Amino acid sequence: MLIEIPEVFTAAEAAGMARRLDAAPWVDGKATAGAQSAPDKRNRQLPEDHPLARELGERIVERLTHNAVFVAAGLPKTIFPPLFNRYEGGEAFDYHIDNAVRIVRSRGQRVRTDLSATLFLSEPDTYDGGELVVEDTYGPRSAKLAAGHLLLYPGTSMHKVNPVTRGVRLASFFWIESLVREDSQRTLLLDMDVAIQQLTQTGADRRSLIRLTGVYHNLLRRWADM
Ligand code: NI
Repeated sequence: MLIEIPEVFTAAEAAGMARRLDAAPWVDGKATAGAQSAPDKRNRQLPEDHPLARELGERIVERLTHNAVFVAAGLPKTIFPPLFNRYEGGEAFDYHIDNAVRIVRSRGQRVRTDLSATLFLSEPDTYDGGELVVEDTYGPRSAKLAAGHLLLYPGTSMHKVNPVTRGVRLASFFWIESLVREDSQRTLLLDMDVAIQQLTQTGADRRSLIRLTGVYHNLLRRWADM
């Protein structure tokens, strides 16, 4: 399931991050590509251990930890320290599936990439192209979100970034290891979670709500791997 999370950062906050990133020392994005996908990847990235990447990455993780939609949809166990990329002058990244396991070099920790996330940091009207296209169950879906908004999609999906033919596209991208590995199970839990919240708001019978909430937790207990 593809989930749009609006306003993880306000437009002003995103603009502030983009301004600082714009002046950063970008390197060839092939640095983190696998041998197979390297020829299809034309962009630039901020080195993983650059102080600005660390600082902004921590800010993103901190913000998401308190974002109710992100927590409900992703059921995060570990968030990979966010990376940053930049596309301009026709740069693009053709269709690929991200590596299943990534290593956080600073702590030698392995993260299974159950979900992929892109936080858009440039306003859509400042560049042409640069859509993130994700192959969903029902075909390709294209996303070009406002600065500060985030797209969450299954790590199992094929995706690409279209060529940026005008302006600069800055974004943060990272992965989440979820308590629940399977996208279909996370989708079911999220549907139930949303229904429970709506029933709570519309004043449904309390005892039934408690039972239903119990079913949610019993499913999560069955599916969670720690
Ligand atoms: Ni990718």
